Amino acid sequence: MERFELDPKLKEEIRARVLGEGFMKIVQTVRRNGKQFKIAMRPVEIGGEKKFQAEMTDDGQVQVKNLTVNAAAEGLEEIIAQRGARELHLMTAKGDLHMRVTKKGHVMVSRSAEMDRVVTVQPHDRVKKVPLTEFESSALLRTIGLADGEGRIRASMRGKYDQVNEFLKVVKETVGESRIGELANDRMAAEPFTVVDCGCGKAYLTISLYFYLTHVLKYPNVTVIGVDRRADVIAAAQKMAAQLDVADKVLFVEADLTTYELEKADMVVSLHACDTATDEAMAKGVEWKARYILSAPCCQHELQKALGRNNRTIECSNNRMGTGSCEQDFAGLLRQNILRERLCDILTDSFRAMILRILGFKVQVIKFVSSEATARNILLKCEYGVKPGQPGPVGEYLNLRDYWKVTPWLETRLSKLLGKYLERYV
Ligand SMILES: C[S@@+](CC[C@H](N)C(=O)[O-])C[C@H]1O[C@@H](n2cnc3c(N)ncnc32)[C@H](O)[C@@H]1O
Repeated sequence: MERFELDPKLKEEIRARVLGEGFMKIVQTVRRNGKQFKIAMRPVEIGGEKKFQAEMTDDGQVQVKNLTVNAAAEGLEEIIAQRGARELHLMTAKGDLHMRVTKKGHVMVSRSAEMDRVVTVQPHDRVKKVPLTEFESSALLRTIGLADGEGRIRASMRGKYDQVNEFLKVVKETVGESRIGELANDRMAAEPFTVVDCGCGKAYLTISLYFYLTHVLKYPNVTVIGVDRRADVIAAAQKMAAQLDVADKVLFVEADLTTYELEKADMVVSLHACDTATDEAMAKGVEWKARYILSAPCCQHELQKALGRNNRTIECSNNRMGTGSCEQDFAGLLRQNILRERLCDILTDSFRAMILRILGFKVQVIKFVSSEATARNILLKCEYGVKPGQPGPVGEYLNLRDYWKVTPWLETRLSKLLGKYLERYV
């Protein structure tokens, strides 16, 4: 037997522990020339199929691959055949095996006493249960940069981590009930589910959504598409998807939302897509016949241009105070920039909610994160499913729109679809 080579009986024991019942995790660490190479493998279930997730960390760079049982067995042979000094830790339900190979090639093995562990790894008690801890997410969080090399959430990323978690909670709430029905129906459960993240930026939400829908909500056939007009963020996001071995399921497209076309989507999301990009995301959701539109708007400038900025007087058509114009009635409010900005945000989101309601969506405007986390903490949660063009929603919309004498961008954008409903009441 050569130096560094393991005893055949030990090799057999490692194979039996990894490929047999109750396997939990194997980690082998090699330190050489001041650098560290680590490979970890653990069982996962993807689309109801048993797989092994291998995570390679080479001097801080993480690469994840989901392997079939045969590919995992091949990978294990490479772990066993590794030369040089190394450490190996293997956990199974029945106990641990620890092996250290010294620089001189001596192999030292220790085994824990027999145990009776439950294989499903539960999040640590002190870890707050949030969507991103409901599944083994350490590789995901490190790769997308929300966590550091040790797996701790970076202080500077805490806000984004909270936003993504809260967004995922809304996703669960939104698809929750229908999902339970689908899971009971095998045919529906196998249907493809396509999500588009409009203005995906650095893809924190985009990639997390894929893992959450697949591993927690158990959608077996999810595709998530992140769209952004910035080439640098798209290139970085594509690299992260490849590192996590999901590049065929999490796609990134460099495009302006206004020109990006798709035939159909099941869910359209946007998280702080700037200005009218939020309207564009909603319009695409309508045109792609998405059942769900979840949109957390960002800064909004379009109505501000119309209201007060240029000291223009807008004649108000429904002015009960009788002073002649909305701007006169609201002069005290519109004079203050912050208040005018907030008023315009509220009006814009009200118009958006009302337009989607006219077009057949049930709409709820909710606060998805605390106001301390971000002032942009409103989310429009929309699910298709009511009769479009009903007099009530149309009337409410026209009253508010005509009171302010503005034309919201979303109305202009969706004029072909909306026109027929609005015209009936004009
Ligand atoms: C504030 S960032 C938010 C990114 C990401 N959703 C997040 O929450 O981390 C807004 C993103 O929307 C993108 N964006 C804005 N308008 C767009 C448009 N018309 N088409 C495509 N992307 C757009 C920007 O490039 C930017 O990356």
